[in-house]
Amino acid sequence: MEERLVAPQEQLTDHEGEVLRPHRMNDYIGQRKVKENLGIFIQAASTRGEALDHVLLYGPPGLGKTTLANIIAAEMGVSIRTSSGPAIERPGDLAAILTGLEPRDVLFIDEIHRLNSTTEEILYSAMEDGCLDIVIGKGPSARSIRLSLPPFTLVGATTRAGQLTSPLRDRFGVISRLEFYEVEDLKEIVLRAAGILRLGITDEGAEEIARRSRGTPRIGNRLLKRVRDFALVWGDGVVTQTIAREALNRLEVDPVGLDNIDQKTLRTIILTFAGGPVGLETLAATIGEESETLEDVVEPYLLQMGFLQRTPRGRMATARAYQHLGYSLPQNRAECGLFTEERT
Ligand code: ADE
Repeated sequence: MEERLVAPQEQLTDHEGEVLRPHRMNDYIGQRKVKENLGIFIQAASTRGEALDHVLLYGPPGLGKTTLANIIAAEMGVSIRTSSGPAIERPGDLAAILTGLEPRDVLFIDEIHRLNSTTEEILYSAMEDGCLDIVIGKGPSARSIRLSLPPFTLVGATTRAGQLTSPLRDRFGVISRLEFYEVEDLKEIVLRAAGILRLGITDEGAEEIARRSRGTPRIGNRLLKRVRDFALVWGDGVVTQTIAREALNRLEVDPVGLDNIDQKTLRTIILTFAGGPVGLETLAATIGEESETLEDVVEPYLLQMGFLQRTPRGRMATARAYQHLGYSLPQNRAECGLFTEERT
């Protein structure tokens, strides 16, 4: 059975993920500011008959960076070519992609912070001057030729804008940060997905899923599909609030969306490190996660929810984290003013 590396339900999930993805700006819910600004830039570039300026999208995973890249291409009426930082290993790989673009096409590079430095340097002149300097041959007979490229739009996506080199960052004309979604927007996204999946759902059921989706549409859609299974087996297939609540409790997703890794992270800071401060690497090793996962995936939501504080000496659990997980505040902590923001 070893060859079943990809479980059938994962293939299905990927497929459904594609079905649920909005294809045009009008179908894209939330991220109002980013959407409005991009809409203006797209309309202006189209009116001028030019390629859209290069766009950098950054923010935590699952907030719609890939979706937006595809929407940008659709709204511009051009094709999109998709790749990722780690997939473009050699300058020649990038050259092959760039020379295959049609005028005004979109090149989407996911995880752009993971491009290696030689490839990244090729990208500079491609982005800025629309040309490609490539070296042909090796040793004394090597020579450099300059190819001119059609005008194109690079859409880069990253969870870590801070890790981009400044020459690369500076070459993007539009830099947009995606934020965690409001519950209202997530509810609308869940209702839209339920409609596409032809699934019965109550307003309260959608809201329950939205509240527990960690501000992230990808999680909302995933939870909807899991709750759908419980609804079918426990009831008549309709996702009600009671079924959503019971199902999500079982899946260890708590009422504000913390999953078991989030809870484990906070519990470890509180119980093993007396509330912190604890360094990122130490914390990651203790809970058995990669420090990058902790930093890119786990921490942003905990910070946003006010459960975690980053201090120069390390990570700390806030008073709100203690309360939420049902621990009482240690006296010495409360007295030394670390929780002042919550002790009004
Ligand atoms: N599905 C996933 N993200 C979405 C979004 N932002 N709007 C609508 N549907 C979505």
